[in-house]
Amino acid sequence: MAGKRSFYLTTPIFYVNDVPHIGHAYNSMACDVLARFMRLDGRHVKFLTGTDEHGQKVEKAARAAGLEPKAFCDKVSQNFREMDRLLNLSNDDFIRTTEPRHARACQALWRELKAPDEIYLGTYAGWYAVRDEAFYAESELTPGPGGKKLAPSGAEVEWVEEPNYFFRLGKWQQPLLDYYRRHPDFLAPENRRNEVMSFVSGGLRDLPVSRPTIKWGVPVPDDPKHVMYVWLDALTNYLTALGYPDTQNPEYSEFWPEALHVVGKDILRFHAVYWPAFLLAAGLEPPKRIFAHGWLLNRGEKMSKSLGNVVRPGELIAQYGLDPVRYYLLREIPFGSDGYLSHETMVSRINGDLANDLGNLAQRVLSMINRNCAATLPEPGKLEATDERLLAAAEAVLGEMRKQMEAQAFHRALEALWRVIADANRYVDEQAPWVLRKSDPKRMATVLYVLAEAIRHIGTLVLPFMPDSGGRILDQIALPAAARDFAHLGAQFRLRPGTALPKPEGVFPRYVEPEAEAAG
Ligand code: MSP
Repeated sequence: MAGKRSFYLTTPIFYVNDVPHIGHAYNSMACDVLARFMRLDGRHVKFLTGTDEHGQKVEKAARAAGLEPKAFCDKVSQNFREMDRLLNLSNDDFIRTTEPRHARACQALWRELKAPDEIYLGTYAGWYAVRDEAFYAESELTPGPGGKKLAPSGAEVEWVEEPNYFFRLGKWQQPLLDYYRRHPDFLAPENRRNEVMSFVSGGLRDLPVSRPTIKWGVPVPDDPKHVMYVWLDALTNYLTALGYPDTQNPEYSEFWPEALHVVGKDILRFHAVYWPAFLLAAGLEPPKRIFAHGWLLNRGEKMSKSLGNVVRPGELIAQYGLDPVRYYLLREIPFGSDGYLSHETMVSRINGDLANDLGNLAQRVLSMINRNCAATLPEPGKLEATDERLLAAAEAVLGEMRKQMEAQAFHRALEALWRVIADANRYVDEQAPWVLRKSDPKRMATVLYVLAEAIRHIGTLVLPFMPDSGGRILDQIALPAAARDFAHLGAQFRLRPGTALPKPEGVFPRYVEPEAEAAG
């Protein structure tokens, strides 16, 4: 039998100068959903997240907080771990770039680049934006207030003149373009792929990869006056976590290059241009795919600490609940587009999709079973065409969801699942089991059994998105833990009639405005 297909999934590593906000959480939640989906689908998954702790920006933030950089990082990195717990992330590892395993990997990669002369010593005279930790050409800048110049991101730039090691990025222009053409799925979505290709087609300049003026970083091998440029350091985390430079170890052999890096659109250039160039130059394969999602906006601007408009994940979760927030973000905003958080759309998703559509389906079916079938799964009679149709729709949806999840189209996967929920609700209305109870109890048993089966599929397929709520739905049909995966979605694993069921309880309460509740 073929082994499980391996899947390596990464979030960006987060700068520890910032408090975790919902923009960070958005990325992490999307990755978590994907990781859980793939695991339930039988893939062997490694899901990585972590913190990016070096560089000038973090050094500055530590100074502003009156702490040594390491002490500062220890403290702030912890906030991201706490965010992960709050979000119920199923990550397999959490990497910090200040760990010894990471310095080892960075220095090894540096040597792989230095030996073939892909890195050389030169002098940089140009612009640098600390906020982006990025070098910019004069032509990319626009005038800002007070005679300052601004990077395309809006970050202020400063003039820097210093000896640097350079990576020969220029010579990788054509190989990168060839690579993008040969691997059409490497960059997604399509519009971002086009942007990257046109950026690279415009020509690439050699890239500074060390900083002699800052101390907070991984020392350059054999020239410790320099620390590595924080983006070379940061990108390497994806290899560190697999045990690089030991490329013979089982994790590395299994998971590289089976990687999907999910990143925000603002950091696509680093991932789509620099990272594959570093890897190709070091004789390593680039990751399989990079997906750039959009931004969560607040009042039309990207949420960020410096703009003072951040929403903390804890606030949203306290107000709406974790699973509804996970569902909302992935259902409401097509992954890849920018989106807004809005109370109105959140409430309409919670009360519509969750409470009315899914919650009500489970609640009414399970209460009918509880009341009318002695709280045990009824024995179905012969299935009619309409029963077969609902079961076939429930059994077919995995294929559609799988296709959409492979493309990171979370909203489409959910749309497909909700079509089955709508089918099931329609079936309840048409079959009217509450009428059958008197007129044809045998038929009622069949209808309720078919619905319980549909709920088994729906509950299992909802698990990656809402692990807790999906689990509670499956508890109510007494589905054993070992049967809660996609391999069990076939007809051969149908529910066993006669199984005793617990007393049903609502899984998705309606959202009630606090003032309405107080008045009521
Ligand atoms: N440290 C780098 C990443 C290195 S990866 C090798 C970095 N960190 S960051 O903390 O500034 O951003 C991390 C991620 O959060 C990025 O993908 C960024 O796009 C994302 N987001 C930050 N604010 C965001 C929103 N308001 N909305 C959506 N995502 C945003 O960049």
